[in-house]
Amino acid sequence: MFTLTHLSDIHLSPLPKVKRSQLLSKRLLGYVNWHNGRKFVHRRDILDLLTRDIAERHPDHIAVTGDLINLGLPEEYLRAADWLHHLGPPDRVTVIPGNHDAYVRLHPDTSTRHWHPYMMSNSAGEALFETPGAGFPFVRRLGDIGIIALSSAIPTAPFIAAGRLGQRQLAGLASALEAQGRAGLFRVVLIHHPPLPGQADWQRGLRDAKDLRDVLKTHGADLVLHGHNHRQSVQELDTENGRALIVGVPSASEAVDGRAPAARYNEYHIDRAGNGWRVEMVGRAAANIDQVWECERRVLRDR
Ligand SMILES: [Fe+2]
Ligand SMILES: [Fe+2]
Repeated sequence: MFTLTHLSDIHLSPLPKVKRSQLLSKRLLGYVNWHNGRKFVHRRDILDLLTRDIAERHPDHIAVTGDLINLGLPEEYLRAADWLHHLGPPDRVTVIPGNHDAYVRLHPDTSTRHWHPYMMSNSAGEALFETPGAGFPFVRRLGDIGIIALSSAIPTAPFIAAGRLGQRQLAGLASALEAQGRAGLFRVVLIHHPPLPGQADWQRGLRDAKDLRDVLKTHGADLVLHGHNHRQSVQELDTENGRALIVGVPSASEAVDGRAPAARYNEYHIDRAGNGWRVEMVGRAAANIDQVWECERRVLRDR
């Protein structure tokens, strides 16, 4: 059995000291939002509680689906890299960016560069699908499990939290799904934005979600993991090769008694069953500031 852990929307706190010169354009609005509420929702002690719980359970692999930080400040990227090192080594953790990680235009020297070891293929994945120059999608193969990591993160205007994949990345996704399908792998797709209609409005949604669904329907996938909505949701999409599970997870740092659901992560126990797969999801959530409990256990697929 393979255990894959999924967490998302870390929104790492506290915010580092911000220089006046860094509060340009979109960041100013984000800064005001943070101090008017978000800092009470996303808490470092809650995140650390979940991080310790994950480490104690020794999953085979961990997927982090974006929004690691808040305003795209250089110091935030460094702090997030430090948190990633606590979560696990790069060969055990796969990371993709979210809209908050591309809050303003990314600068290669001060931004996600520090996360790169966590955002690249492994050699078995590269043998199936060669990572394009733009860096996404990249593929990791972990025995019978195939991971395809997408980036829907784009800099946007204030009040907009939308995402886009673009035609090249979608074409890459199609090839990667084909290659993993031929190898008989359990195919896991990671994306920050939710892919189904009605899951996010125009301002917050994935601009080319329909194109993404078309690729998934044509080439098949087993499990699509996303964040962005800060809510638990389990849905399905019919594909040529059966149903793909589409699962969103709440933020991993949300306060227990806030407006939002308590911080949570999901574990997937993936097993071969006959000609297919058995997938059990285990939800683990913060009960208070020093306790995590199993809030859900559910078989999502049996063959
Ligand atoms: Fe988020
Ligand atoms: Fe987001």
